[in-house]
Amino acid sequence: MKILGIETSCDETAAAVIQDGEKILSQVVSSSVKLHQKTGGIIPETAAREQLRYIIPVIKAALDKQVIDALAVTVGPGLIGSLLVGVETAKTLASVWQKPLIPVNHLQAHLYANWLKKGKKPKFPTIGLVVSGGHTDLVLMKKHGQIKWLGGTRDDAAGECFDKCARLLGLSYPGGPAIATAAAKFKEQKTKNRIKLPRPMLYEDNFDFSFSGLKTAVLAEVKKQKNINSALLANEIQEAITDVLVAKTKKAVREYGVDSILLSGGVTANVRLREKFKSAFKHSLLFIPPTELCTDNATFVASCAYFNYRALSWQKIQADSGLNIEEMIKF
Ligand code: KG4
Ligand code: ZN
Repeated sequence: MKILGIETSCDETAAAVIQDGEKILSQVVSSSVKLHQKTGGIIPETAAREQLRYIIPVIKAALDKQVIDALAVTVGPGLIGSLLVGVETAKTLASVWQKPLIPVNHLQAHLYANWLKKGKKPKFPTIGLVVSGGHTDLVLMKKHGQIKWLGGTRDDAAGECFDKCARLLGLSYPGGPAIATAAAKFKEQKTKNRIKLPRPMLYEDNFDFSFSGLKTAVLAEVKKQKNINSALLANEIQEAITDVLVAKTKKAVREYGVDSILLSGGVTANVRLREKFKSAFKHSLLFIPPTELCTDNATFVASCAYFNYRALSWQKIQADSGLNIEEMIKF
């Protein structure tokens, strides 16, 4: 079965055609990130306007005259203006082409980047970690469509923390890659790390995270130091965020007695995070998506739709910006 996936939840306009949930036949991503660099972050109206400009050319390029069996679209969570562009376009196409349309939860979809990698496929039960710009969620996935939320951030998401800390250091948007690049420079400097940032909630007996305090600690450091060594601070920020993500995932794996782990979300593109997870889970089945499938794209939307196939008449499908990772099942 060939599914056309459509993704417009934030600042990427993406479409992809996936065969049987695992094989990428085509994929196109257009990002308005350059525009957001000018403002140091996303302005929702700007993102929505860009979605409108690119949605048709992106879908056309991904389709490239292929015949599809169904469409899938991200209905939430995300920025409502951006979501609406994808959802209304998908509904129109489904109606005109008379094809089934499957609504997809963006957070669940991120996890499916792990099914698109060649080779070994994930097995259930599995612990999933979704770390993106807007979300940090730890889940237990018993099978397709059965997701139990174990914990998540109480304030800022991990990606948001990268973005906000980068801003404090005067680095560009998006902050994750900018901090990773600055941190790599620190490794080259071979100087000693003289800064210790907090590892929020590291030893608390739950699966929750909190990253806003870390941002405040970074602000205090920036104010304290006359000439900030941004490479040193970036390195410590990256260490602090990744330490907590690894520790809480380890705790979930231990408590639920599973030996399969799925990482996903934009922050998973972080090289240091990938290294730390690989060394922490040497004896488990650890799945990390290819870097280009970590950040937003439509391949995982189509894959998620295939494995959770539930087509609805287009009239019933609506954008829902506040969807959580367990929801959708209600559709
Ligand atoms: O999943 P994603 O593309 O969009 C959302 O659904 O939010 O994630 C974007 C987030 C941004 O916060 C960005 O800074 C972060 O992922 N990110 C990274 C890296 N690449 C992207 N964070 C750390 N290291 C990276 N290399
Ligand atoms: Zn995302």
